[in-house]
Amino acid sequence: MALPIPEEKITEIRHATDIVDIVSESVMLKKAGKNLLGLCPFHAEKTPSFTVSPDKQIFHCFGCGVGGNVFSFLMKHQGVTFPEAVRMLADRYGVDLPRPEATAAQRRALTEREQLLAVNQEAMGFFQRCLGQGGPGRRAKDYLDRRGIAAETIERFELGYAPPGWDNLLRFLTGRRVAPALAEKAGLAVGRRDTSGHYDRFRDRIIFPIRDANGRVVGFGGRVMGDDLPKYLNSPETPVYNKGRVLYGLDRAKAACRQARRVFVVEGYFDAIALFQVGIENTVATLGTALTADHIRLLKGYVERAVLVFDSDAAGVKAAERSIPLFVEAGMEAAVLVLPEGDDPDTYVRRRGREAFDKLADKALGIIAFLTVSAVARHGQQTVEGKVRVINDMLAPLSAVSDTMARSLHIRDLAARLDVDESALLARVREFSGNRGRVSGPGERTLQTVSMSMAAGKGSRLERQIVAMMLQHPQAVAEVSRRRLVDRFEDPGLKKMGMEILAQCAETPRDASEIVQHITDDALQGQAAALAMEQVPWNDQGWKVVMTQYEAVRPHRNDDDLLAKIRTAEADNDFELLTKLLKDKQHRASNRQEPIS
Ligand code: CTP
Ligand code: MN
Repeated sequence: MALPIPEEKITEIRHATDIVDIVSESVMLKKAGKNLLGLCPFHAEKTPSFTVSPDKQIFHCFGCGVGGNVFSFLMKHQGVTFPEAVRMLADRYGVDLPRPEATAAQRRALTEREQLLAVNQEAMGFFQRCLGQGGPGRRAKDYLDRRGIAAETIERFELGYAPPGWDNLLRFLTGRRVAPALAEKAGLAVGRRDTSGHYDRFRDRIIFPIRDANGRVVGFGGRVMGDDLPKYLNSPETPVYNKGRVLYGLDRAKAACRQARRVFVVEGYFDAIALFQVGIENTVATLGTALTADHIRLLKGYVERAVLVFDSDAAGVKAAERSIPLFVEAGMEAAVLVLPEGDDPDTYVRRRGREAFDKLADKALGIIAFLTVSAVARHGQQTVEGKVRVINDMLAPLSAVSDTMARSLHIRDLAARLDVDESALLARVREFSGNRGRVSGPGERTLQTVSMSMAAGKGSRLERQIVAMMLQHPQAVAEVSRRRLVDRFEDPGLKKMGMEILAQCAETPRDASEIVQHITDDALQGQAAALAMEQVPWNDQGWKVVMTQYEAVRPHRNDDDLLAKIRTAEADNDFELLTKLLKDKQHRASNRQEPIS
């Protein structure tokens, strides 16, 4: 697919951008020498191995092998295409790009994802304008008033209204040259079964636009104003909307989350909005789905701790049990806050206010403690039977805790609480874990890209250094090329990488960030980022030493080939070939650098 953005614009944007700013939006980074270090957003880890180099403007995770420059980071982290990543950064850093929405012809050239996002954006504007307008729009506004949603909050959450009728939105979109088929793909229209056309999905409903963490409108939720069913209707999964990967409100909650280092996870649109309205801005909502590993990974970039807020103990227990392994695997702390019977976060803060909610939040129990308390509430802890049942309920959660220190502390707590022998309880948990297999096994580590073979001998070590130098010192590339070092590489991975760099830099020198950007293979890109971060001799005298050492370890195999060819040509009396081969030999010898020192 042709890239509509001129190469020099891409370079301009890359130079305007600081990868540290961009990565910091979703990963907490701490200084570690020349680099910055944080928890990798691409795999579960508790010890930081995600490295960002401000000098080289690249990132690399030594845990899972992922790596690249600022564009690759956005592509991988936000799931966007290269042009999308470029545009996002152009917007942010004020680099002018030809506006893609300008003409119908240009619109056609957009990727499908971009088209869907543009349609969503248009639809959101339409819904917003309908709120408060006309009889039904007035009714919708009154409904929000009654629910205590202030005008300012309506603005902030961009709430809207889908009017009654079958094709209000469709007609509006058609006027904007959006085909019904595209509206259908965006989840805004539904195709009639007899294929005689389309109708609006959302009709006579309050509309909640759903933005992803990056602020792009990816879908909508719609609530009826009366008792009709279903109460909520949501966008279906589309190429831009996956409810397991989006948390409602995160785009607005980001800053507060980072500041508070914790996030409240609620279940409903109104819950998130109501908490936000009373100033608890570090709040997100799941979208009618259980919390997923992707959700947690997303949150991990902003907070250390998630507080799951539930309407009732029963709902909380089930959800908490399910999410334990996810939090454990992600290495994120989690607590559970259960509201008094009959309340949800929305009704609770409206009734009791922010301070009461804060007090509950301070008392929120860690997941294991919460499950213990509810098991005790269910079974009692006075009788032997009660204790046995509590222990049985706790075996799975306890064995899901993979941090052995944390687990033994939980076991000690539970043993003390039930007044049972700690070592007996420990034995039960061990037995349970043994039978079931550890919930979070070492399996996920296998996804680590084992970095290039570097074991075998001095030769590959030098090959590795040479490639690292090529990535870090554009001037070294010319020298490597002149000495034809890559030809002799024996490590296939390093050879591939070396050839890639030579090919890329044949015309103009490129720095690491640029080279890495042009590698489309994910694994190779990660390896290039790793090599770009490696320590290498930093001046040309140093490189020459390495190169000359390498030449000594790996004499040029082509020289042998050449000699063999010369011998054959002599034997065949092929003087024409012989003359050419001898010239080659002479040329080669005069080109070769004299070893230094
Ligand atoms: N939900 C949904 N589809 C439904 C019901 C619920 O997608 N049919 C999702 C919505 O995101 C909703 C959340 O689950 O916000 C919680 O549902 P519920 O507790 O029933 O509604 P509330 O958010 O409390 O809505 P309200 O206060 O308006 O009754
Ligand atoms: Mn509610």
